[in-house]
Amino acid sequence: MEGFCEDSPPYLVPTEHPWEVLARFSLRGRRVLTIAGSGDIPVYLASHGPASLEAVDVSRGACFLTELKRAAYRHYARREFVRFFLGGTASWPLLFEDAGADPSPDPPERSLLYGSVRQHLSSAAQAFFDQRLMDCSEEKHPFAEFLRPTDMWHVSLLPPVRSDEAYGLWSSGARLNFPIHCASLEDFVPATDSCFDLVYTSNVFEYLRTRIVLQASVSAFRGFMRSFWVALHRILAPGGRLAVYVFQGHETEPFARMLKELAPPRPLRYKRHLMPVTLRPKALPGAVWRHVVVFFEKTFH
Ligand SMILES: C[S@@+](CC[C@H](N)C(=O)[O-])C[C@H]1O[C@@H](n2cnc3c(N)ncnc32)[C@H](O)[C@@H]1O
Repeated sequence: MEGFCEDSPPYLVPTEHPWEVLARFSLRGRRVLTIAGSGDIPVYLASHGPASLEAVDVSRGACFLTELKRAAYRHYARREFVRFFLGGTASWPLLFEDAGADPSPDPPERSLLYGSVRQHLSSAAQAFFDQRLMDCSEEKHPFAEFLRPTDMWHVSLLPPVRSDEAYGLWSSGARLNFPIHCASLEDFVPATDSCFDLVYTSNVFEYLRTRIVLQASVSAFRGFMRSFWVALHRILAPGGRLAVYVFQGHETEPFARMLKELAPPRPLRYKRHLMPVTLRPKALPGAVWRHVVVFFEKTFH
């Protein structure tokens, strides 16, 4: 499992699917911090009417892609969105069937679409995408280096690609101009002056654990988590939650281990909630994936 850094390529589509779990909380008027990732999760969270939202990601590419996704959700119709990001990936017929879009690549259309949102991007994001999108050729998919082998399954689980209704929700979220910080979560949390009701961390702890255990030891990771909790406790409002996406079923041994290692120090008195996620990717008939979103809730004591 590789680590992430400033130059890591972004994920083109999310590989985690917290949509239904996150929809169970009222985020209206709440303050949210989230990992930016592919950009779809921040835009989704923004659609729930938070008072504020901030996105953070260690990868510059992920931050730029989040800007581009937000602009695309705001300005493109669903078919344009699907063709812009995924056109030319013709081996994904189910995707295009759902989106009612033509799967064939259309580079001139892609350049035109990019031109229509470019002005809404920061100059750094423009510089990042100009070379990929201003002069697209048919030979090279502009986002090829962001694609991962499992993306064709994940994309079939992304609600805005599948229905106009969901796309409308994401488009409404994209109207919020939230800040996107290029920093690691572990550097951002101790340094910020903001206060949050929800901190959504994707599965970054899984990667941090691997890195710290390989470089040092399991006890070094436990030490890291203790310091992280002290920093997080300072910025979480009473009743606020840290959310962690775990790519394991809740009855598995790795899940139990992860839960133990992530747990806040007892004196902080957090409550824990486990929300299972069951996924049946349409593009992978018969497969069932079991994940969990773990919430640690700060009590009012
Ligand atoms: C953690 S990755 C996970 C992607 C996917 N869910 C998976 O299973 O591999 C999602 C995003 O987190 C970002 N990321 C990874 N470690 C981070 C860290 N320590 N701080 C901030 N962002 C981080 C990556 O750049 C990426 O955009």
